[in-house]
Amino acid sequence: MASVDVPVALLGYGTVGAAVNRLLTDSADDIERATGHRLRIVKALVQDPGKEREYPPAGGVLTTDFREIAEDASIAVVAEVMGGIEPAGGYVLELLRGGKHVVSANKQLIARRGAELFEAASSSGVQLRFEASVCAAIPVIKVLRESLVVTNVHRVLGIVNGTTNFVLTEMEGGKTYGEALAEAQARGYAEADPTDDVSGADAAAKMAILATVAFNSRVDLADVEYSGITGIDPLDVAAARQLDMVIRLVGAARLVDGHVDVRVHPALVDKQHPLAKVDGAFNAVMLQGDAIREITLEGPGAGGIETASAVIADITTVIGTMHTGFLQNDAAWRTLPKLPAGDNRSPFYFRLSVEDRPGALAQVAEALAQREISIARLLQHQNGDGAALHVVTHQARAGALDEALAALGGLSDVHRRSNPLPVVSDRGVSELGWA
Ligand code: NAP
Ligand code: HSE
Repeated sequence: MASVDVPVALLGYGTVGAAVNRLLTDSADDIERATGHRLRIVKALVQDPGKEREYPPAGGVLTTDFREIAEDASIAVVAEVMGGIEPAGGYVLELLRGGKHVVSANKQLIARRGAELFEAASSSGVQLRFEASVCAAIPVIKVLRESLVVTNVHRVLGIVNGTTNFVLTEMEGGKTYGEALAEAQARGYAEADPTDDVSGADAAAKMAILATVAFNSRVDLADVEYSGITGIDPLDVAAARQLDMVIRLVGAARLVDGHVDVRVHPALVDKQHPLAKVDGAFNAVMLQGDAIREITLEGPGAGGIETASAVIADITTVIGTMHTGFLQNDAAWRTLPKLPAGDNRSPFYFRLSVEDRPGALAQVAEALAQREISIARLLQHQNGDGAALHVVTHQARAGALDEALAALGGLSDVHRRSNPLPVVSDRGVSELGWA
């Protein structure tokens, strides 16, 4: 069998870049058998070539000069695994405009500057692929763009950040937040600055990309409402346990009457729901659509080798389809309006401290009923002289719940109220306000 030698360059040789080189080297024979191509890393751009590296590349591969990659006509495919918006964005743009195919693991870049990059790829007739930017090893972008090309996907629900899921599950096992985060960093799951993980920004960027690909409508990071795990109240964790639920950072993207709604928030997830069973650095994405009903993809969502597997899958697809026009188009061909703030619907959980006296509960029920909010579950326990109320609503408009909570805050019988958290239940597709 004739084999074709394919020189590949990397922008970055950190956790992911080194893993791409290791996996390509270890699997070179398998890849060649499967594709007829022998892939070799010939250049890797870094900041400090003198740095000690666990898996150093061959001599002469590391460079600090981007031009050695951009101007090398023998390199047709480049994997951007360096992260950050600049200089990564400028480099990717120049490579695409110069006719090189680019594979990127950089969700912040794709979520913020996707429009410009896709436009450049289309004009040059090359591919920009980004499987590794969302959920590492899980091939969800390929499934959405290729396998489900004729399916009208209208809901995407997922756990899309490995670091926060690892931290939350380790905390359930007794670790402190600090210990769990340090371990996630040591294992290579976290971003260079873990603020992006714990603030929800990393998950928000991934949900923007998933929504763009699922709905073929441009969704930028700025369109995603998000919050992270830093503000989780220990009382929320205790309440979740009491309600037989767990707390997970959940991303949800929905098409509602021609409007797009994309958000990431900590949510109470019923223990019977598939997302509650996603532990450690694993991710899961549920896709709902007309023909498919529901498909769930679950797997490792972070880590060097896990991400490298997606980078290499993209590189082999590029090599197999280059010069065919395949996937050279922009993933987004329309721009749908955003769902107005407050119009998203979900079951919610909130907590109140109230006077323990006749009529207090009736006032709470009245404030909710006036806004068409129905209570699904209610727990009450003694809390000093007063009572703590844990309320789970049926599906409600977020804006209506905010109004009800503001009204409750003004009552003399209500001492404290928590921020509402969405609830993901196991009661089937129609009950999943967030699914
Ligand atoms: P990393 O370990 O920090 O590696 C970054 C690499 O890029 C390093 O080799 C660094 O050079 C190089 N670099 C950074 N800035 C540069 C600059 N201005 N000029 C030249 N080289 C530069 O990061 P990583 O964890 O591999 O992540 C890389 C990308 O993959 C990010 O976009 C991240 O979001 C994404 N990703 C990561 C994971 C994961 O689990 N780690 C999973 C999915 C996606 P030096 O080596 O000299 O410092
Ligand atoms: N920091 C990211 C995470 C890496 O923890 O999910 C994968 O994108």
